[in-house]
Amino acid sequence: MNIKNICITGAAGNIAYSLIFRILAKLPFSNTDKINLKLLDITQSQKSLIGLRYEIEDCAFSTLNSIEVTDNVENAFQESDYIIMVGAKPRSKGMERSDLILDNANIFKSQASIIDDVCSSSTKVIVVGNPANTNALILNYNTPSIPNENITSLMKLDQNRAKSILASKIGKQVEDIEQMIIWGNHSTTQVPDLSNCKINSVQINVDESWIQNTFIPKVQKRGGEIIEYRGLSSAASAASAIYDHIHVLDYGSGSWESLGVMTGGEYEISSGLMFSLPLNVTNKGYNVIKDLNINPDIDSLIKLSEQELLKERDIVKSFLP
Ligand code: NAD
Ligand code: LMR
Repeated sequence: MNIKNICITGAAGNIAYSLIFRILAKLPFSNTDKINLKLLDITQSQKSLIGLRYEIEDCAFSTLNSIEVTDNVENAFQESDYIIMVGAKPRSKGMERSDLILDNANIFKSQASIIDDVCSSSTKVIVVGNPANTNALILNYNTPSIPNENITSLMKLDQNRAKSILASKIGKQVEDIEQMIIWGNHSTTQVPDLSNCKINSVQINVDESWIQNTFIPKVQKRGGEIIEYRGLSSAASAASAIYDHIHVLDYGSGSWESLGVMTGGEYEISSGLMFSLPLNVTNKGYNVIKDLNINPDIDSLIKLSEQELLKERDIVKSFLP
Protein backbone atom coordinates (compact mmCIF):
# COMPACT_ATOMS: atom_id res chain seq x y z
CA MET A 1 0.00 0.00 0.00
CA ASN A 2 1.31 3.47 -0.90
CA ILE A 3 0.89 6.10 1.77
CA LYS A 4 1.81 9.80 1.55
CA ASN A 5 2.39 12.19 4.44
CA ILE A 6 0.51 15.44 4.04
CA CYS A 7 0.62 18.47 6.32
CA ILE A 8 -1.84 21.35 6.12
CA THR A 9 -1.16 24.54 8.05
CA GLY A 10 -3.95 26.90 9.06
CA ALA A 11 -6.01 23.75 9.42
CA ALA A 12 -8.65 25.32 11.67
CA GLY A 13 -9.41 27.99 9.08
CA ASN A 14 -11.97 28.41 6.33
CA ILE A 15 -9.98 27.14 3.35
CA ALA A 16 -8.83 24.04 5.21
CA TYR A 17 -12.43 23.23 6.14
CA SER A 18 -13.15 22.74 2.43
CA LEU A 19 -9.76 21.46 1.38
CA ILE A 20 -9.42 18.55 3.80
CA PHE A 21 -12.72 16.96 2.84
CA ARG A 22 -12.08 17.54 -0.87
CA ILE A 23 -8.68 15.83 -0.67
CA LEU A 24 -9.97 12.89 1.35
CA ALA A 25 -13.01 12.37 -0.91
CA LYS A 26 -10.69 11.73 -3.89
CA LEU A 27 -6.94 11.92 -3.43
CA PRO A 28 -5.17 14.27 -5.87
CA PHE A 29 -1.90 12.29 -5.45
CA SER A 30 -0.71 9.72 -7.98
CA ASN A 31 0.12 6.16 -6.87
CA THR A 32 -1.32 6.81 -3.45
CA ASP A 33 -3.81 4.64 -1.62
CA LYS A 34 -4.01 6.53 1.65
CA ILE A 35 -2.60 9.55 3.43
CA ASN A 36 -1.29 10.32 6.87
CA LEU A 37 -2.70 13.77 7.61
CA LYS A 38 -1.15 16.25 10.00
CA LEU A 39 -3.16 19.36 10.76
CA LEU A 40 -1.26 22.33 12.19
CA ASP A 41 -2.74 25.45 13.71
CA ILE A 42 -1.87 27.82 16.55
CA THR A 43 -2.38 26.83 20.18
CA GLN A 44 -5.63 28.82 20.54
CA SER A 45 -7.17 26.78 17.70
CA GLN A 46 -6.43 23.33 19.13
CA LYS A 47 -9.92 22.83 20.58
CA SER A 48 -11.46 23.59 17.21
CA LEU A 49 -8.98 21.22 15.55
CA ILE A 50 -10.14 18.41 17.81
CA GLY A 51 -13.73 19.01 16.64
CA LEU A 52 -12.46 18.99 13.05
CA ARG A 53 -10.65 15.71 13.65
CA TYR A 54 -13.88 14.16 14.98
CA GLU A 55 -15.72 15.29 11.86
CA ILE A 56 -13.04 13.84 9.60
CA GLU A 57 -13.14 10.54 11.51
CA ASP A 58 -16.95 10.51 11.24
CA CYS A 59 -16.67 10.54 7.43
CA ALA A 60 -14.92 7.12 7.59
CA PHE A 61 -12.80 7.99 4.56
CA SER A 62 -11.03 4.94 3.14
CA THR A 63 -8.29 7.33 1.96
CA LEU A 64 -7.23 8.24 5.51
CA ASN A 65 -4.54 6.18 7.21
CA SER A 66 -3.93 8.40 10.23
CA ILE A 67 -4.67 11.89 11.45
CA GLU A 68 -2.92 14.10 13.96
CA VAL A 69 -3.78 17.61 15.08
CA THR A 70 -1.02 19.72 16.57
CA ASP A 71 0.44 23.13 17.35
CA ASN A 72 3.95 21.70 17.20
CA VAL A 73 5.50 22.85 13.94
CA GLU A 74 8.46 20.40 13.95
CA ASN A 75 6.18 17.48 14.52
CA ALA A 76 3.74 18.69 11.85
CA PHE A 77 6.40 19.08 9.14
CA GLN A 78 8.52 16.00 9.84
CA GLU A 79 8.55 13.43 7.01
CA SER A 80 6.02 15.40 4.95
CA ASP A 81 5.75 14.63 1.24
CA TYR A 82 3.64 17.76 0.81
CA ILE A 83 3.18 20.78 3.05
CA ILE A 84 0.24 22.98 2.11
CA MET A 85 0.83 26.32 3.77
CA VAL A 86 -2.55 27.94 4.25
CA GLY A 87 -1.91 29.26 7.76
CA ALA A 88 -1.68 33.04 7.74
CA LYS A 89 -3.62 36.09 8.68
CA PRO A 90 -6.23 36.65 5.95
CA ARG A 91 -7.22 39.95 4.36
CA SER A 92 -10.48 41.45 5.56
CA LYS A 93 -12.71 44.19 4.15
CA GLY A 94 -10.81 47.36 3.31
CA MET A 95 -7.36 45.76 3.57
CA GLU A 96 -4.90 45.38 0.71
CA ARG A 97 -2.76 42.24 0.56
CA SER A 98 0.31 44.40 1.19
CA ASP A 99 -1.13 45.29 4.63
CA LEU A 100 -0.51 41.70 5.73
CA ILE A 101 3.02 41.46 4.55
CA LEU A 102 5.10 41.83 7.70
CA ASP A 103 2.80 39.82 9.98
CA ASN A 104 2.90 36.92 7.59
CA ALA A 105 6.60 37.30 6.80
CA ASN A 106 7.33 36.40 10.42
CA ILE A 107 5.26 33.24 10.23
CA PHE A 108 6.84 32.11 6.95
CA LYS A 109 10.40 32.79 8.02
CA SER A 110 10.11 30.81 11.22
CA GLN A 111 8.26 27.92 9.55
CA ALA A 112 10.83 27.90 6.72
CA SER A 113 13.72 27.33 9.09
CA ILE A 114 11.85 24.38 10.61
CA ILE A 115 11.12 22.93 7.15
CA ASP A 116 14.81 23.27 6.37
CA ASP A 117 15.73 21.41 9.55
CA VAL A 118 13.24 18.55 9.54
CA CYS A 119 12.17 17.91 5.92
CA SER A 120 13.89 15.97 3.17
CA SER A 121 14.83 17.66 -0.11
CA SER A 122 11.97 15.90 -1.89
CA THR A 123 9.28 17.64 0.18
CA LYS A 124 6.97 19.79 -1.94
CA VAL A 125 5.61 22.99 -0.44
CA ILE A 126 2.62 24.90 -1.78
CA VAL A 127 2.13 28.42 -0.44
CA VAL A 128 -1.42 29.73 -0.22
CA GLY A 129 -1.37 32.21 2.69
CA ASN A 130 -1.20 35.79 1.40
CA PRO A 131 0.73 37.61 0.12
CA ALA A 132 1.36 34.16 -1.35
CA ASN A 133 4.19 34.98 -3.77
CA THR A 134 6.23 36.95 -1.27
CA ASN A 135 5.59 34.44 1.51
CA ALA A 136 6.82 31.77 -0.91
CA LEU A 137 9.88 33.89 -1.64
CA ILE A 138 10.70 34.11 2.08
CA LEU A 139 10.21 30.39 2.32
CA ASN A 140 12.43 29.74 -0.67
CA TYR A 141 15.29 31.91 0.61
CA ASN A 142 15.12 30.32 4.06
CA THR A 143 15.09 26.68 2.96
CA PRO A 144 18.47 26.12 1.30
CA SER A 145 18.05 22.34 1.57
CA ILE A 146 14.83 22.32 -0.49
CA PRO A 147 15.23 22.82 -4.28
CA ASN A 148 13.55 25.99 -5.58
CA GLU A 149 11.40 23.90 -7.93
CA ASN A 150 9.74 22.21 -4.94
CA ILE A 151 8.28 25.48 -3.66
CA THR A 152 5.38 26.94 -5.61
CA SER A 153 2.67 29.47 -4.84
CA LEU A 154 -0.99 29.15 -5.70
CA MET A 155 -2.08 30.91 -8.91
CA LYS A 156 -4.48 28.21 -9.99
CA LEU A 157 -7.44 30.06 -8.48
CA ASP A 158 -6.68 32.97 -10.81
CA GLN A 159 -6.30 30.66 -13.80
CA ASN A 160 -9.59 28.93 -12.96
CA ARG A 161 -11.34 32.29 -12.58
CA ALA A 162 -9.97 33.48 -15.91
CA LYS A 163 -11.07 30.32 -17.73
CA SER A 164 -14.52 30.47 -16.21
CA ILE A 165 -15.06 34.14 -17.10
CA LEU A 166 -13.85 33.54 -20.67
CA ALA A 167 -15.94 30.38 -21.08
CA SER A 168 -19.11 32.17 -20.11
CA LYS A 169 -18.32 35.09 -22.44
CA ILE A 170 -17.81 32.89 -25.49
CA GLY A 171 -20.39 30.23 -24.60
CA LYS A 172 -17.89 27.35 -24.39
CA GLN A 173 -17.02 24.76 -21.77
CA VAL A 174 -14.32 25.66 -19.25
CA GLU A 175 -12.49 22.39 -19.86
CA ASP A 176 -12.17 23.16 -23.57
CA ILE A 177 -10.12 26.32 -22.98
CA GLU A 178 -6.41 25.70 -23.45
CA GLN A 179 -3.35 27.85 -22.88
CA MET A 180 -4.73 30.44 -20.47
CA ILE A 181 -1.83 32.24 -18.78
CA ILE A 182 -1.66 34.23 -15.56
CA TRP A 183 1.50 36.30 -15.22
CA GLY A 184 2.86 37.91 -12.07
CA ASN A 185 1.58 38.35 -8.56
CA HIS A 186 -1.52 36.87 -6.91
CA SER A 187 -2.94 40.36 -6.49
CA THR A 188 -4.79 43.03 -8.42
CA THR A 189 -1.69 43.49 -10.63
CA GLN A 190 -1.82 39.91 -11.91
CA VAL A 191 -2.05 39.65 -15.68
CA PRO A 192 -4.60 37.21 -17.08
CA ASP A 193 -3.50 36.68 -20.68
CA LEU A 194 -5.83 34.96 -23.12
CA SER A 195 -3.84 35.83 -26.22
CA ASN A 196 -2.72 32.21 -26.71
CA CYS A 197 -6.04 30.60 -25.76
CA LYS A 198 -7.34 27.91 -28.06
CA ILE A 199 -10.38 25.70 -28.24
CA ASN A 200 -9.88 22.41 -30.11
CA SER A 201 -6.57 23.82 -31.36
CA VAL A 202 -8.31 26.86 -32.88
CA GLN A 203 -7.26 30.30 -31.68
CA ILE A 204 -10.12 32.11 -29.92
CA ASN A 205 -11.18 35.48 -31.15
CA VAL A 206 -12.64 37.99 -28.68
CA ASP A 207 -13.11 41.69 -28.79
CA GLU A 208 -9.99 43.56 -27.62
CA SER A 209 -11.99 46.15 -25.69
CA TRP A 210 -13.74 43.38 -23.70
CA ILE A 211 -10.31 41.93 -22.86
CA GLN A 212 -8.93 45.26 -21.64
CA ASN A 213 -12.03 46.73 -19.98
CA THR A 214 -13.82 43.70 -18.60
CA PHE A 215 -11.84 40.47 -18.65
CA ILE A 216 -8.52 41.62 -17.17
CA PRO A 217 -9.95 43.83 -14.38
CA LYS A 218 -12.60 41.23 -13.50
CA VAL A 219 -10.03 38.50 -12.93
CA GLN A 220 -7.68 40.88 -11.13
CA LYS A 221 -10.38 42.04 -8.71
CA ARG A 222 -12.27 38.79 -8.18
CA GLY A 223 -10.67 38.06 -4.79
CA GLY A 224 -11.67 41.50 -3.50
CA GLU A 225 -15.16 41.14 -4.98
CA ILE A 226 -15.67 37.91 -3.04
CA ILE A 227 -14.52 39.55 0.19
CA GLU A 228 -16.98 42.37 -0.48
CA TYR A 229 -19.94 40.00 -0.95
CA ARG A 230 -19.08 37.25 1.57
CA GLY A 231 -17.39 39.41 4.16
CA LEU A 232 -14.70 36.72 4.07
CA SER A 233 -12.05 35.79 1.58
CA SER A 234 -12.69 32.98 -0.91
CA ALA A 235 -12.48 29.58 0.73
CA ALA A 236 -14.20 26.80 -1.23
CA SER A 237 -12.88 28.06 -4.57
CA ALA A 238 -9.40 28.47 -3.08
CA ALA A 239 -9.58 24.91 -1.73
CA SER A 240 -10.68 23.64 -5.13
CA ALA A 241 -7.75 25.44 -6.76
CA ILE A 242 -5.30 23.95 -4.23
CA TYR A 243 -6.66 20.52 -5.10
CA ASP A 244 -6.08 21.24 -8.80
CA HIS A 245 -2.57 22.58 -8.08
CA ILE A 246 -1.61 19.41 -6.19
CA HIS A 247 -3.02 17.28 -9.02
CA VAL A 248 -0.96 19.22 -11.57
CA LEU A 249 2.25 18.75 -9.55
CA ASP A 250 1.70 15.11 -8.76
CA TYR A 251 0.33 13.82 -12.06
CA GLY A 252 1.64 16.50 -14.43
CA SER A 253 -0.66 18.28 -16.83
CA GLY A 254 -1.35 18.13 -20.56
CA SER A 255 -2.25 21.83 -20.56
CA TRP A 256 -0.33 25.01 -19.94
CA GLU A 257 -0.29 25.81 -16.23
CA SER A 258 0.43 28.97 -14.27
CA LEU A 259 2.10 28.50 -10.89
CA GLY A 260 4.12 30.94 -8.84
CA VAL A 261 7.75 29.87 -9.36
CA MET A 262 11.20 31.35 -8.81
CA THR A 263 12.20 33.51 -11.76
CA GLY A 264 15.55 33.06 -13.48
CA GLY A 265 15.48 35.92 -16.01
CA GLU A 266 12.71 34.56 -18.29
CA TYR A 267 10.96 37.18 -20.46
CA GLU A 268 13.31 39.84 -19.02
CA ILE A 269 11.55 39.62 -15.65
CA SER A 270 13.89 40.24 -12.70
CA SER A 271 15.43 37.11 -11.26
CA GLY A 272 14.73 36.02 -7.70
CA LEU A 273 10.99 36.69 -7.55
CA MET A 274 8.16 34.22 -7.05
CA PHE A 275 6.21 35.04 -10.19
CA SER A 276 3.45 33.29 -12.07
CA LEU A 277 4.76 32.09 -15.44
CA PRO A 278 3.39 29.82 -18.19
CA LEU A 279 4.64 26.31 -17.51
CA ASN A 280 4.61 22.81 -18.84
CA VAL A 281 4.38 20.58 -15.79
CA THR A 282 5.13 16.88 -15.62
CA ASN A 283 5.29 14.64 -12.57
CA LYS A 284 9.07 15.17 -12.67
CA GLY A 285 9.02 18.99 -12.55
CA TYR A 286 8.25 21.98 -14.72
CA ASN A 287 9.67 24.02 -17.62
CA VAL A 288 8.86 27.61 -18.40
CA ILE A 289 7.22 27.89 -21.84
CA LYS A 290 9.66 29.99 -23.86
CA ASP A 291 9.56 32.33 -26.85
CA LEU A 292 5.94 33.42 -26.59
CA ASN A 293 5.09 36.65 -28.36
CA ILE A 294 3.75 38.99 -25.72
CA ASN A 295 1.64 41.86 -26.95
CA PRO A 296 2.73 45.33 -25.76
CA ASP A 297 -0.39 45.92 -23.58
CA ILE A 298 0.19 42.66 -21.72
CA ASP A 299 3.91 43.35 -21.50
CA SER A 300 3.38 46.68 -19.77
CA LEU A 301 0.97 45.05 -17.29
CA ILE A 302 3.55 42.33 -16.58
CA LYS A 303 6.05 45.07 -15.75
CA LEU A 304 3.59 46.59 -13.24
CA SER A 305 3.18 43.25 -11.51
CA GLU A 306 6.96 42.80 -11.49
CA GLN A 307 7.30 46.27 -9.91
CA GLU A 308 4.81 45.31 -7.21
CA LEU A 309 6.70 42.11 -6.41
CA LEU A 310 10.01 43.99 -6.32
CA LYS A 311 8.43 46.41 -3.84
CA GLU A 312 7.14 43.52 -1.71
CA ARG A 313 10.60 41.93 -1.83
CA ASP A 314 12.06 45.19 -0.64
CA ILE A 315 9.61 45.38 2.30
CA VAL A 316 10.64 41.88 3.46
CA LYS A 317 14.34 42.20 2.69
CA SER A 318 15.29 41.69 6.34
CA PHE A 319 13.64 38.23 6.09
CA LEU A 320 15.80 37.20 3.10
CA PRO A 321 19.26 35.94 4.06
P1 NAD B 1 -8.69 31.75 8.11
O1 NAD B 1 -8.44 32.95 8.95
O2 NAD B 1 -10.04 31.17 8.09
O3 NAD B 1 -7.65 30.62 8.52
C1 NAD B 1 -6.32 30.87 8.72
C2 NAD B 1 -5.86 29.91 9.78
O4 NAD B 1 -4.44 30.06 9.88
C3 NAD B 1 -6.44 30.20 11.15
O5 NAD B 1 -7.01 29.02 11.69
C4 NAD B 1 -5.24 30.65 11.96
O6 NAD B 1 -5.31 30.30 13.33
C5 NAD B 1 -4.13 29.90 11.23
N1 NAD B 1 -2.81 30.42 11.51
C6 NAD B 1 -2.41 31.69 11.74
N2 NAD B 1 -1.11 31.73 12.03
C7 NAD B 1 -0.66 30.46 11.96
C8 NAD B 1 0.60 29.85 12.19
N3 NAD B 1 1.65 30.58 12.54
N4 NAD B 1 0.71 28.51 12.05
C9 NAD B 1 -0.36 27.77 11.70
N5 NAD B 1 -1.58 28.28 11.52
C10 NAD B 1 -1.73 29.62 11.63
O7 NAD B 1 -8.20 32.12 6.63
P2 NAD B 1 -8.50 31.34 5.27
O8 NAD B 1 -9.72 31.92 4.66
O9 NAD B 1 -8.41 29.87 5.48
O10 NAD B 1 -7.27 31.87 4.37
C11 NAD B 1 -5.94 31.50 4.69
C12 NAD B 1 -4.95 32.28 3.86
O11 NAD B 1 -5.10 31.98 2.47
C13 NAD B 1 -5.10 33.79 3.96
O12 NAD B 1 -3.82 34.38 3.97
C14 NAD B 1 -5.81 34.17 2.66
O13 NAD B 1 -5.59 35.51 2.29
C15 NAD B 1 -5.12 33.21 1.72
N6 NAD B 1 -5.78 32.95 0.44
C16 NAD B 1 -4.96 32.75 -0.63
C17 NAD B 1 -5.52 32.46 -1.87
C18 NAD B 1 -4.62 32.22 -3.06
O14 NAD B 1 -5.15 32.01 -4.18
N7 NAD B 1 -3.31 32.23 -2.95
C19 NAD B 1 -6.90 32.39 -2.02
C20 NAD B 1 -7.70 32.60 -0.90
C21 NAD B 1 -7.13 32.88 0.34
C1 LMR C 1 -8.46 35.53 -3.35
O1 LMR C 1 -7.88 35.71 -4.42
O2 LMR C 1 -9.67 35.22 -3.30
C2 LMR C 1 -7.71 35.64 -2.07
O3 LMR C 1 -6.35 35.76 -2.30
C3 LMR C 1 -8.26 36.62 -1.15
C4 LMR C 1 -7.70 37.98 -1.30
O4 LMR C 1 -7.10 38.44 -0.34
O5 LMR C 1 -7.86 38.57 -2.37
